[in-house]
Amino acid sequence: MNGGSARWDLPWGQRTAKIPLSDEVRAFYEGHPYPAPLRDLERHRELYRNPDRRRALSLLLWPTEKPRPDRKILVAGCGTSQAAVYAMREPEAHVTAIDISEASLRHTRDLQRKYGLRNLDLQRLVIEDVGDLGQTFDEIVCTGVLHHLPDPDLGLRSLRAVLAPDGALHGMVYAAYGRAGVYMMQEYCRLLGVRADEEELRELGATIGALSPDHPVASTASRAKDFRQPDALADALLHPVDRAYTVPQLYAWLERCGFSFARWYEQAPYLPQCGEIANLPHAARLASLAPPLQHAAVELLRGTMTKHNFIACRDDRTAESQPVAFDGQAWRNYVPLRLPWTLCVRERLPRGAAAVLINRAHVYPDLALPLNAAQQRVFAAIDGKRTVDDVLRSAAGADRVDQGREFIEGLWRYDQIVFDATGLR
Ligand SMILES: C[S@@+](CC[C@H](N)C(=O)[O-])C[C@H]1O[C@@H](n2cnc3c(N)ncnc32)[C@H](O)[C@@H]1O
Repeated sequence: MNGGSARWDLPWGQRTAKIPLSDEVRAFYEGHPYPAPLRDLERHRELYRNPDRRRALSLLLWPTEKPRPDRKILVAGCGTSQAAVYAMREPEAHVTAIDISEASLRHTRDLQRKYGLRNLDLQRLVIEDVGDLGQTFDEIVCTGVLHHLPDPDLGLRSLRAVLAPDGALHGMVYAAYGRAGVYMMQEYCRLLGVRADEEELRELGATIGALSPDHPVASTASRAKDFRQPDALADALLHPVDRAYTVPQLYAWLERCGFSFARWYEQAPYLPQCGEIANLPHAARLASLAPPLQHAAVELLRGTMTKHNFIACRDDRTAESQPVAFDGQAWRNYVPLRLPWTLCVRERLPRGAAAVLINRAHVYPDLALPLNAAQQRVFAAIDGKRTVDDVLRSAAGADRVDQGREFIEGLWRYDQIVFDATGLR
């Protein structure tokens, strides 16, 4: 950081005047490092013993490419533990992590020491100055940060300037409509002058807990598992800088800053073909819209999304980043891989179902996907090695491959599988 102010190198070479950094944001995160620090990474170590987990995460970003184990990853606004998790998960990658808060970096450094993470480089640096690193990155992870910047466009453009031509950004920003109750409570806290100290946060937690379940903040508070934890409560309600995006605002923001939208990290919540939305009288009209409008309309119908988790790539990328499609014949040669964080439930099933598939990252119960016996046989045949064609031939029969396409597409839409489409290139 440059002594309390920063100069931004914009991707097209313009230079801005010195802009004051948000001392308030920095002070906030020194006092309230977020998320709650992890003492160890054992759970993560256990999870990544399954190699399919890394493979699936790589295919989400690059479905047509062999995993790049030695990639350069930037974790921008790394908080207390995210960068250490990445460094442990991708031992051959080089992970650079930056944060404005020394307190957050200290927690990450403890994990780095504990696990001997030599592939992790930690630096106290603001995102707006990331160009000072003089490097480009294949993967940039920036979750829960850009919506707290005084100028999110400058932050995003700075990341764009250090993204490699065929790199991918995994971003997460707040969603506007589902946070209406949070913004009401932020306003309430401002009216009362609530401060982020221990006593005030305890009282604020008790106040939220006593609100009617009909209050717009109540569902957010009950769904966010750490809402009662003091630093998380401060992060949600007392943050000095906080903005949120609707789906159209998110698309426009990415475009303005030199990115193209690639996909949602979890796409089913945005798709009119998934869950209860698919049964509405408007389902066919919704599905006939262009994808960005579908996503905007479904956000309005769901009404309670609190964040947008997305993947974006550079707008000058020559090859399509997510060419998964089911209209030609290419889908037959995709290799489907089940997402390791999904569940296949076989108890207390709805009538006629042989199993129900659940992606644990989904927050909407209507996105659980019931399978009949024939579908379950196809699902069970997915092994991450065989192509869709082979899976359908072996589990459904050679004459049923075309009918099976719709089911496979549904599994993909519902975030149950990703495709290894490396054969496409
Ligand atoms: C809500 S935390 C998210 C941490 C992490 N990305 C995660 O998802 O667990 C936001 C982090 O961004 C950092 N931060 C805020 N403004 C920043 C800036 N301008 N440059 C770098 N880091 C920043 C804060 O210090 C904090 O650690």
